[in-house]
Amino acid sequence: MRRREFLYNGLAGACTLAFANCSAPKAISSVDSRIEILIGESLGTISPDIYGHFTENLGGVVYDGIWVGENSKVPNIDGIRMKLIEEMRKIKAPVVRYPGGCFADSYDWRDGIGPTDKRPRRTNFWSDGEESGAPTSHKYDPNQFGTNEFVHFCKLIGAQPYLAANVRSLSAGEFYRWVEYCNSPAGATTLADTRAAAGYVEPFNVRFWGVGNESWGCGGDFTPQEYAMEFRRFTTWVPHYGQRLSFIASGPNVDDWNWTRGFFEEILRKGRSPLRSIYGIALHHYAWNVSRGRTQDWVQGKGDALKFDAVEWYELLREGERMESLINGHWHIMGEVDPSHAVKLIVDEWGPWYRPGSEVTPGDQLEQVPTLRDAVFSGMTLDIFNRHPEKVAMANCAQLINCLNSLYLAHQDRFCVTPVGHVFAMYAAHQGGQAVRTMFSAPTISYDRDGKPAAFWGLQGSASLHDKDLVLTVVNPAIRDPREAEIVIRDARIKAVVGTTLTHPDIHAHNTFEQKEEVTPQTKPLPVSSGTLTHIFPPASVSSLVLTLA
Ligand code: AHR
Repeated sequence: MRRREFLYNGLAGACTLAFANCSAPKAISSVDSRIEILIGESLGTISPDIYGHFTENLGGVVYDGIWVGENSKVPNIDGIRMKLIEEMRKIKAPVVRYPGGCFADSYDWRDGIGPTDKRPRRTNFWSDGEESGAPTSHKYDPNQFGTNEFVHFCKLIGAQPYLAANVRSLSAGEFYRWVEYCNSPAGATTLADTRAAAGYVEPFNVRFWGVGNESWGCGGDFTPQEYAMEFRRFTTWVPHYGQRLSFIASGPNVDDWNWTRGFFEEILRKGRSPLRSIYGIALHHYAWNVSRGRTQDWVQGKGDALKFDAVEWYELLREGERMESLINGHWHIMGEVDPSHAVKLIVDEWGPWYRPGSEVTPGDQLEQVPTLRDAVFSGMTLDIFNRHPEKVAMANCAQLINCLNSLYLAHQDRFCVTPVGHVFAMYAAHQGGQAVRTMFSAPTISYDRDGKPAAFWGLQGSASLHDKDLVLTVVNPAIRDPREAEIVIRDARIKAVVGTTLTHPDIHAHNTFEQKEEVTPQTKPLPVSSGTLTHIFPPASVSSLVLTLA
């Protein structure tokens, strides 16, 4: 038995596995941490949209993942995988971004409307990366899943569609026509008639429109100034048909401060009015470099999704933790030109990115298997968003199914929820709540980074208030040590608590089609003593506590 299992089993014996409470043996369970929640200090309302998703026409995301076709033996609703619909309803999915990603700037939306048997087959943006054995639909887009099917999918799961427009290879005019197709009133335009002929008489009322994607790279290789001019052109006088249009500008890659500054300076060159048309600017950050600082090479720096050591566990979390400073840094620059902060941050791609090799379905490009590490990473990231509700208006995990930080894996009639999917279910209760200031104090984790000392924080999380309920989510990133924390609510007493914890004795644990429940959350009521709570957060865990306040 390893040390970690020893500690874990010791706790389990004393207090029950994931919910050890205050009566654990002194040597292991002495209180070493404190979480203080200041319910009177609101940070703002947590936008439900920060729990958003991203579905690109890439590898097995759309074809096989979402779309199985109406005549499939896989249970479906109008061609859309039924199991996926059921799961996404459970997590209250608020918004889904489509069709890319890089795919968006090569996509002609006109190919994906009209009778399905008349739709053209086109070369997918990602075709050159497809292996020879990959399904044809991954290389050559059959266009069976287009705007109608995507919006229908969103309606079925109760989410809002977020469409990304093609700036690199289509005109502004075609963008206006896509808006017209989606939003013009029944019978008003030829495109509304085309929509009605497909069975969608009423307008889709699409609010969120991305103007290009990664326009500094695959989306056109623009300078920020060039892109700002395109943005102004694409978003000036777009007919809105009574639907508020929220335009999202293609934003910086990670810490490219020059992009953010250059974009806003150019946007404002002709005056401040264009600021009013920008809902948000998109920030992308993937955690990929686990090389302990040895390289910045995109291929060499990556690690394996399933095989990693303790150092790589912490290195990945360190990379992911940069999200907080990226949010603060870009927000600061935005404030230089937009002091009232009318424009928000939209983190529409985030997650870990490993080297190829863990695909559950061979040939699914960019597919990786999420483990407990990715659950901890995702909890940490969602907590960061919760702590900045005034800055982050939307975020979209990359990507929903059969891809990078996926919530679900699917192939033909097989399907499983990943540990990341479970984290989204556990955090859904935060949506729409008042984020409140919460202070975490816990021993720092020290680890050996190839002969050099390195450190990582011991406990972090976020809290939100929903009338008399307080939702507290907490990540313990330590792979060995449990943390026993005193939870103090300033100016309130705790009446009852229900806790849910996701963890596993093996940090590499993950779910597969064969073992779907290897990593699953455990929920139970927790004992409260005299209005206070002391709780042990197991090592390598994500926890969600719902506290009813007196
Ligand atoms: O999510 C995969 C790709 O990563 C997206 O297409 C692109 O926007 C980003 O570089």
